[in-house]
Amino acid sequence: MITYKDILKDDNPIVRQKSADVKLPLSKKDRETLQEMVQYIHDSIDEEKAEKYGLRPAVGLAAPQLGILKKMFAMVVTMEEEDGSLSTVEYAFVNPKIVSYSVQMAYLKDGEGCLSVEEEHQGYVPRAARITIRGYDMLQDKEIEVRLRGYLAIVAQHEIDHFSGTLFYDKINKENPFKEIENAIVIE
Ligand code: NI
Repeated sequence: MITYKDILKDDNPIVRQKSADVKLPLSKKDRETLQEMVQYIHDSIDEEKAEKYGLRPAVGLAAPQLGILKKMFAMVVTMEEEDGSLSTVEYAFVNPKIVSYSVQMAYLKDGEGCLSVEEEHQGYVPRAARITIRGYDMLQDKEIEVRLRGYLAIVAQHEIDHFSGTLFYDKINKENPFKEIENAIVIE
């Protein structure tokens, strides 16, 4: 089981290294790792388990954050639909590639966070408002191509950035962290 102490923080140089493509079909070990990553997110948003195991809540986790320099990430996002019902979007991506970006940008009003970042870094992180990702999804056991928008697109871009050793605060404007981003949707 992955717990918060297994997650490398940004003072560890491995977090800044590049990840490599993963051989498919997945090895047993890679499959187990990715499964545990999905499980971490599920457990982290379960209040009882989070408290018991000391898990910091997350919506995404990338393999390099565990010191595994492979292009794998998990995301589990529960969102409220317009009719008030909840829906969960879940992926366990292997070798994901962003094949298109919208010109329109988006950012989270309250900024981003990361399990590898313990210090607070306030500011807007510019992201594409919509992206198309292609890659193998372990949960569906097939190659998929999906279009993500808004919050989901931001989470996926944040995770994919981990494969190049990029952290969210690298993208915050240094002189003016809250500088308005042109042509951007603000996500609350
Ligand atoms: Ni992160």
